[in-house]
Amino acid sequence: MFRLAHLTDPHVGPLSRPRLRQLLGKRATGYVNWRRGRRHAHDMDLLAALVADLHAQTYDHIACTGDLCNIGLPSEWATSKVFLEALGPTDAVSFVPGNHDAYVRGSLEGLLGACGAWTEGDDGRRGIFPYLRRRGPVALIGLSSAIPTKPFVASGRLGPDQIAAAETLLTRLAAEAEPPARVVMIHHPPHPGGAKPGRELKDAAALTAMLARAGADLVLHGHNHIGMVNVVPGPNGRSIPIIGAPSASARDGFSHHRASYHLYTITRSPEGYRVAGRERGLTPAGIIGDIGALHIVPAPIS
Ligand SMILES: [Fe+2]
Repeated sequence: MFRLAHLTDPHVGPLSRPRLRQLLGKRATGYVNWRRGRRHAHDMDLLAALVADLHAQTYDHIACTGDLCNIGLPSEWATSKVFLEALGPTDAVSFVPGNHDAYVRGSLEGLLGACGAWTEGDDGRRGIFPYLRRRGPVALIGLSSAIPTKPFVASGRLGPDQIAAAETLLTRLAAEAEPPARVVMIHHPPHPGGAKPGRELKDAAALTAMLARAGADLVLHGHNHIGMVNVVPGPNGRSIPIIGAPSASARDGFSHHRASYHLYTITRSPEGYRVAGRERGLTPAGIIGDIGALHIVPAPIS
């Protein structure tokens, strides 16, 4: 059995006061948004408590699906590295970036310069997507949907080359004598309709078509800051669970908005891998604890 924790969208803060020239373009609206709302909505004490709770659990690996940053300032790259170092060692934590990590041109490159070790594939390369990390019976495939966009747009895109490379990886892994459990990590919800227009993955249809051919055992995402459980069709009539977690630092909102993380057990069975998950996070009592099981629809679907 393999235990995988999934935490996303920590939006690590606080932001240092940017220089005026750093606020040109999209960062100007992003900084105003952060001053007005995000800095209150994302609670760093809560994030620290959530990570402490995670560290008290038994797990083999942590997946972090993006949005370490807020507006992609250089000062945020160092803060993000401090956060990842606190989360865990580079070989035990896998990171894929989100749209706030690629806020303006150059942001993603800067962040990966500081935090690339948490994206290092088994081939030793860093910041190259898709990457493959094999850990026990699990193969983690990291995708990057993070691209710079215009103000008020938070969409993502993988591009045909990344989707094709991911298909090659997934197909090759499935053809092994003892195939590993294939876990795909991506920031944006990977399925059509998974996010509102302007926030969606532009090539979601191409990605889900690829997943229907190549298959996967679990897809993890963030971005919407709410808990989401979906399925998409996989090969041979099986379904693929698509599961999003809330922001790990969100203090307010309804129960499915508030800060939590997911803890999965992945178990080999005669029919393939069985995935079960529980959610831990901010409870109505205001403490961090068990919230309940994730209702993952079992395969197959019609
Ligand atoms: Fe986010």
